[in-house]
Amino acid sequence: MRSKISKILFVSLVVLFISIVVGFASSAASDKPGAMLWAENCGRCHNLRPPSSLTDEQWDVAVLHMRTRANLTEEEAKKIVEFLKAGN
Ligand code: HEC
Repeated sequence: MRSKISKILFVSLVVLFISIVVGFASSAASDKPGAMLWAENCGRCHNLRPPSSLTDEQWDVAVLHMRTRANLTEEEAKKIVEFLKAGN
């Protein structure tokens, strides 16, 4: 009986800990500026395409496609597009 209660307590603590870590990680990711997100994510599979290589309209389309490849959140993709459009 005692050990069952402590197991439940242990599991709850683990769940709590994981949700704190995940919550912290996701808020940290969205705190990053677009330039940092771009540098960290957009050069993983190919050379970093500089902002000047495409027009605003082309960046909209390219990041729409690359967002799924790079597994970015909507917020991260938006920041990257803003950074790219500011620099072309
Ligand atoms: C998981 C791998 C991966 C990541 C991460 C990635 N790309 Fe790509 N990217 C590709 C591949 C593969 C291609 C070429 C094939 C294609 O266009 O479908 C490509 C092509 C491109 C092109 C050329 C598209 C065209 O129409 O010629 C641009 C621009 C580009 N990526 C920008 C980005 C940006 C910006 C990011 C970050 C948001 C990014 N990529 C992240 C895999 C990736």
